[in-house]
Amino acid sequence: MSLYVPGSPSRKTCPTSDMSLSRKLSSVQQLHDRYREVRAWSETICAPLAPEDCVIQSMPDVSPTRWHLAHTTWFFETFVLSRATPDYQPCRAEFEYLFNSYYNSVGRQFPRPQRGLLSRPTVAEVWAYRRQVDQRIGELLEGVGADGERCEQLLLVIELGLQHEQQHQELMLTDIKHVLAQNPLYPVYRESELLQSSVAGARRGNGTAQISYGEGLVKIGHSGPGFVFDNETPRHREFVESFRLADRLVTAGQYVEFLKDDGYRRPELWLSAGWQTVLDAGWQVPLYWVQRGEDWWQFTLSGLRPLDPLEPVCHVSYYEADAFARWCGLRLATEAEWEVAAGELPIEGNFVESERFHPAPVTGASSSAAPDQLFGDVWEWTSSDYSAYPGFRPLDGALGEYNGKFMSGQYVLRGGSCVTPRSHIRATYRNFFPPDARWQFSGFRLAE
Ligand SMILES: [Fe+2]
Repeated sequence: MSLYVPGSPSRKTCPTSDMSLSRKLSSVQQLHDRYREVRAWSETICAPLAPEDCVIQSMPDVSPTRWHLAHTTWFFETFVLSRATPDYQPCRAEFEYLFNSYYNSVGRQFPRPQRGLLSRPTVAEVWAYRRQVDQRIGELLEGVGADGERCEQLLLVIELGLQHEQQHQELMLTDIKHVLAQNPLYPVYRESELLQSSVAGARRGNGTAQISYGEGLVKIGHSGPGFVFDNETPRHREFVESFRLADRLVTAGQYVEFLKDDGYRRPELWLSAGWQTVLDAGWQVPLYWVQRGEDWWQFTLSGLRPLDPLEPVCHVSYYEADAFARWCGLRLATEAEWEVAAGELPIEGNFVESERFHPAPVTGASSSAAPDQLFGDVWEWTSSDYSAYPGFRPLDGALGEYNGKFMSGQYVLRGGSCVTPRSHIRATYRNFFPPDARWQFSGFRLAE
């Protein structure tokens, strides 16, 4: 995921002259509070897990929880502590190789598919590593308060580290779901009462409605203050034809109709590469769906549950979303269309803070003015390939793990999911995955 730090990332001097000391101290204190809050949420996520859960890698795309915990900590050590401290002594020098997701200083990278083969460091050692780095970050931030020479740029990189940790918090939940799903006992990560009451509160009625948008020149992407990743910039103009967008996400019940109509056995509905994937991977249903007799069930972070036909379909790939849209005679939205619809809306929805860990049916009255579920529930596949905006300039330097190098062979997803932290998402946020990925909390809505 690429990153953009507001202001010049190559700025060498400290921009403290325009910042009063008291303002600076309060922003340092706020950042320290936020640091503690974000880091504590990682611990909350792990509370239901046993050490045995934390070391499994169920497929190459999945990382063990232990790896996420160490890698996010390595980020703070590498990009904050070692830069801010002369003659810095790393907590454990070998971690630079084990927990660096990119290439280390001598161009080596521990192979991603082998992250689950490590029995050492133990989970307990990784927790100790986190505490050590947290203490050093605390001392550093206290020093910033007393030292007028400390730089705002340092605080921005800490914010970057927190945003990075929030990305990995979503991945921790996504990955542990995949790990637990391999177990025929269908272990429960956490019971959720919300899951049991979802149908009762759902909006029933006439199904999906379309909302119309006129053609025109629109502005897409971020400008102005606030943290964003570099791939959201620069804000630029795009011409969008008139379009209509579904007022809600495609539901599991609608997707069952696609199954009943032999959707997975009709090559004419699929992109060529998608059909090949169906054949090669043996796809017949979305990931985590299980048929028992006539009934559909699905694995959730609260265990195996009957499929709720009113909730959004989840864990589908771009190929499946595209085939479903073709079956309907419709299509997926472009990311520009999605942003036109979402740009002015409040960021409200079913995020990780609901602790439901699962998409929810639409509730309440339908609005003809704006679509529901644009934020939260599931990441929405768009038909836009992940590429650079006109005038895009990736962040350079040692944060090179996070630049535009992933802009190849992936599609953009928008809006966040039920495992995304609320403070991590915005209308311009661009997530991206390859078209066959479906272990993410991904779904879609239709456009025409
Ligand atoms: Fe990372």
